[in-house]
Amino acid sequence: MNEKGMAADDGKRLFKQVYDHVIHRIEHGEWKAHEKLPSIRQLAEELGVHRLTVFRAYQMLKHNEKVYVKEKSGYYVNPNDPDRVVLEYGEDQPIVASGKLINSLSDIQRVSAAYQFSQALIDPNLLPNLFLSDYVKKVFDLYPKLMGTYSTVQGDEELREVLSRYMMQNHHTQLQASDIMITTGAQQAIDLLSRIFISPMDAVMIERPTYSAAIDIFRQQRARFIPVDIHHYGYDIANVERLMKQYKPRFFYMNPTFHNPTGYTVPSSQRKQLVELAERYRCLLIEDDAFHDMHFDGPPPQPLFTYDTEGWVVYLRSFSKYVAPGLRICAIIASPTVMKLLFTAKSLADNGSPLVNQKIFLHYFQSERLQQHIEKLRIALQVRRDIMEKELTPTGWNWVSPRGGLNLWIKLPEAIPVEQFLKECMQQSISFVPGIICDPLRKMRSQIRLSYSFINEKQLQQGVKNLVTVADRYS
Ligand SMILES: Cc1ncc(COP(=O)(O)O)c(C=O)c1O
Repeated sequence: MNEKGMAADDGKRLFKQVYDHVIHRIEHGEWKAHEKLPSIRQLAEELGVHRLTVFRAYQMLKHNEKVYVKEKSGYYVNPNDPDRVVLEYGEDQPIVASGKLINSLSDIQRVSAAYQFSQALIDPNLLPNLFLSDYVKKVFDLYPKLMGTYSTVQGDEELREVLSRYMMQNHHTQLQASDIMITTGAQQAIDLLSRIFISPMDAVMIERPTYSAAIDIFRQQRARFIPVDIHHYGYDIANVERLMKQYKPRFFYMNPTFHNPTGYTVPSSQRKQLVELAERYRCLLIEDDAFHDMHFDGPPPQPLFTYDTEGWVVYLRSFSKYVAPGLRICAIIASPTVMKLLFTAKSLADNGSPLVNQKIFLHYFQSERLQQHIEKLRIALQVRRDIMEKELTPTGWNWVSPRGGLNLWIKLPEAIPVEQFLKECMQQSISFVPGIICDPLRKMRSQIRLSYSFINEKQLQQGVKNLVTVADRYS
């Protein structure tokens, strides 16, 4: 860090760096709870920055309750509360993330349960497993040196060619193989983008609720969250515009099609408007489209990226949920500028996803069998959704019936304390996702996510019956 000759913008970055630096040292135990931080002068000298910069960082630490002040003595470390998210600046509630390594969802999913409603995964019995195994042999015959070959960083060119043609046919847009990168699932894509675009304290817009792992990834980069409510009719567009204007976020991460956890789909009328706003306010849209083909009443609206002419949408299309989860293939479509950054980030992460997975996927993806599989899968999922909804109808709980995706997002009556309810369900070998972990504000205490995709019809029926019996104890 050095302040000599710096511009105003650099000054802002430097103050964020000092803030981040202090947090880092606290989290690594160098300064423990109730210990005194170095004086402003000492730290300024140590870091080679101006005292005012340290003063601003300390003030922000105090504001965010990371430290407290003792009159005429100095700044002291607040006792740690790892799950606490801190409101900053009031009104619109941007949140400063803790930067800790947390994955709330995987913590819940690690616990085994006979009735797994926490896994938004497809039941492996619904996948054409034997057919896939045959394919594996064929692919090895076709490429005898497959195991001895690395993928390129951007991904197998043959696969990118096929995916670009597929996207052009299905989404009526112009694409080349060079516009696509293959990653190991959408999760890796989100992680790479957050590494590229988020510096500590940067504002990022994020749906409320949202995919909980995305919260944890952005939080790890110490993003400042700007939550945007998602409703069954989409977003409040005027509010989206106001937030973009006010906070100049680095990006808006969204899952506008069969959204996880709610199942909502942003209507096409808003999609064009969102792209226009992104261009006007120079805010990237990260469009995560992990459930595109999992529709029950006909295909969803075209993705936002099809409206994009200036490169403000980064499109993530994961196939890992429903094509072949074991292969974990996701395609990122991005402008050349973003692709260049992704190239560096991906090369640092793993130098390219495994070629074996990409080639198996490529051949399976082009097969007729895949289309048949997807059609059957849609029907099977719809049947499971219907069973879950039927079993829940007598409860009077509230939800909007999803027209695609894998989950019901349910608002429970206030009388049911979700944390306690989850504990009791776990004792009965039933798991679900408490809404609070999908909320960047950590306030959704009455909502839960139930996935209907992972267990078979019979178990599903029994599991929901058991869940309702546990809930009845609170009425
Ligand atoms: C919205 C969303 N994005 C991304 C992912 C992760 O996808 P992948 O399995 O491709 O890493 C999930 C998984 O549940 C998801 O729900």
